[in-house]
Amino acid sequence: SIPVILDCDPGHDDVFAIWLAAGHPSLDLRAITTVGGNVELRFTEYNARVACTVAGISGVPVAAGAAGPLERELETAEWIHGENGLGGPELPEPTMPLDERDATTLMADVLLASDEPVAIIATGPLTNVAILLRDRPDMVDRIREIVWMGGSTERGNVTPYAEFNSWVDPHALAAVLASGVRFTMVGLNVTHRALVTPAVRASIEAVGNATAAFGGELLEFFCRTNDEVFGLPDGPLHDPVAVAVLTDPSPVTLVHTRLDVELTGTETLGATSVDLDGILGREPNAWVAVDLDVAAFWADVEAAVARLA
Ligand code: BDR
Ligand code: CA
Repeated sequence: SIPVILDCDPGHDDVFAIWLAAGHPSLDLRAITTVGGNVELRFTEYNARVACTVAGISGVPVAAGAAGPLERELETAEWIHGENGLGGPELPEPTMPLDERDATTLMADVLLASDEPVAIIATGPLTNVAILLRDRPDMVDRIREIVWMGGSTERGNVTPYAEFNSWVDPHALAAVLASGVRFTMVGLNVTHRALVTPAVRASIEAVGNATAAFGGELLEFFCRTNDEVFGLPDGPLHDPVAVAVLTDPSPVTLVHTRLDVELTGTETLGATSVDLDGILGREPNAWVAVDLDVAAFWADVEAAVARLA
């Protein structure tokens, strides 16, 4: 199995990313780190521990990292995720403690302790990952790859052309791209196929354990806000699709192409520019998700939920 660190900002769909990473047999979840994003850091670190508590995940350290982006002010997304970031279910008091280490210290400790390279999956703004690469260049060779949910080959969801995670910290994305570490972008063009239809929700709930019951309440809230905000009653469950890139077999199809991010646009800050047709003639620098086997993806999510508490 592949050792992974999950860096996230829970967030409904981040919770499912945690569960897929913890519950899929081809992944070995070594740490969870959190970042300010969907809501402030004090909520995201708490929510990550709630997600572990509900699912009976123990022995995975959870640490808090950057409260906000490298250069911009933090912009949050309560309109989708609720005031506490996990609107819907009543949240149990987490039994999992918050690790004393800072997120990047925990990441470095996990990388140093591993006898093989560790993958970093990021499902929020890339702030923590950028800080790790900036402050610990000695870690670069220990990172197998970085897989990120964010961006889009098409249009955005927070401005016409920018996706939320990219828009919150575009400077972090630019820094991570410049690092040369293998990078995979899983954007809205593919996550908008991971739709939580009534049938998907019913079959997750039918798993019948505590994780499934809590997950069903999360999905109910998430679909309601996606309907209100985007007119999408079958909310797209973005973040676990990034985790699915590393499962074997993977339901995600990737292409090697050129990815850049807009840092100066007047209307397009945070927009990702994906040169699928090679118009610019620049060297490819990223793998970009272009297709998803939707049925296989949901089967993996359900199986992971079933393996948890
Ligand atoms: C991304 O933004 C957040 O609201 C979700 O958790 C996901 O990571 C989708 O644009
Ligand atoms: Ca997220």
